[in-house]
Amino acid sequence: MSLVSLKSIHKSFGSTAVLSDINLQIEDGEFLVLVGPSGCGKSTTLRLVAGLEAPTSGEIYIGDTKVTDVDPKDRDIAMVFQNYALYPHMNVYENMAFGLKIRKQNPDLIRKRVEEAADILQIADLLERKPRELSGGQRQRVALGRALVRKPKVFLFDEPLSNLDAKLRSEMRIEIKRLHKLLTTTMIYVTHDQVEAMTMGDRIAVMNRGNIEQLDTPKATYDRPKNKFVAGFIGTPQMNFIEGSIIPGNVSGHIFRVRDFQINLGQHTLPASSERRVVLGIRPEDIIPVLKQGSAEESGLTFRAEVEITEPLGSSLLAHLIVSGLHLTANFDGNLQIKTGEKINVKIDQAKIHLFDAETDEKLNDH
Ligand SMILES: Nc1ncnc2c1ncn2[C@@H]1O[C@H](COP(=O)(O)OP(=O)(O)OP(=O)(O)O)[C@@H](O)[C@H]1O
Ligand SMILES: [Mg+2]
Repeated sequence: MSLVSLKSIHKSFGSTAVLSDINLQIEDGEFLVLVGPSGCGKSTTLRLVAGLEAPTSGEIYIGDTKVTDVDPKDRDIAMVFQNYALYPHMNVYENMAFGLKIRKQNPDLIRKRVEEAADILQIADLLERKPRELSGGQRQRVALGRALVRKPKVFLFDEPLSNLDAKLRSEMRIEIKRLHKLLTTTMIYVTHDQVEAMTMGDRIAVMNRGNIEQLDTPKATYDRPKNKFVAGFIGTPQMNFIEGSIIPGNVSGHIFRVRDFQINLGQHTLPASSERRVVLGIRPEDIIPVLKQGSAEESGLTFRAEVEITEPLGSSLLAHLIVSGLHLTANFDGNLQIKTGEKINVKIDQAKIHLFDAETDEKLNDH
């Protein structure tokens, strides 16, 4: 049974529709990430689960209980926000204990819970400090601790790491994953950062303009995006998109063409019997350098490319290429020796080609 269910949720603020027909089942113990660009409705979705907003229509369940009209404090959830919202006049201990205190819990139990959480988060030596005496990362840990002591059925996170620098973010990312492994409590995590989504989620819901575009494992979302939006949103550097036409073929398969650039699509099955406009997508790592003269020259898949700019990242090398006037980004091995202005041969991995309808953006081929 799923632990959190959103059924046909619609949400409007005045005449502005913000969420349209959201259906989401989150399993007990799952780490679900809501990811999408700014304004797509992630926080609103989370706030509906928390009870901080009411849906315009639709139902929300936590366990067997319909909570659509239940007060936030009675929903057995704990929420961690981007701005930690710690009480400045209280020390760390008091901040963490506060939620239990107002629920009139036994003082011994409160002490036990706070100490337990402080140990897990490695902030036991900070309990006497005031928030202003803490670093950003330490404050975020206290905010996590405040949620942890409640032992809720569901943790809700709204961009909890956004205020931290890059290094601390990646540390806290692992910390939260570790926490999830330890507690096995259901977590719903909102972020606009696709790296956080990919690395943290058991499943990720990619949202756009108040809709869930795809709900899948990170790997499936990456390998088999359902549409151009998901394909472009997930993955850095971004998938290359080339708009052109499909020229249907028979024995040798279809051809993709834009001006004098042509790719042999081989056996990609397509519902096309006549010429149609499509967008071809290829991920940077699926453009492969062909180093040896005369090796692996596959007709219609190997191209002459001019290296416009390179970005060495150590383990990898991003190469911005010009192929028949088209700009493509390739992700090569960091040891590859290529220079700006050089001409190289590259091969496009035919099996990794994505094709999208130019009008609807829906995926056309079957992976
Ligand atoms: N109280 C409100 N009144 C009117 N419009 C609102 C309200 N809250 C949110 N919205 C609108 O709803 C849309 C979704 O907002 P939401 O905060 O859920 O986005 P988000 O995906 O969390 O974005 P971000 O990544 O910027 O936090 C936005 O267009 C926003 O302007
Ligand atoms: Mg938000």
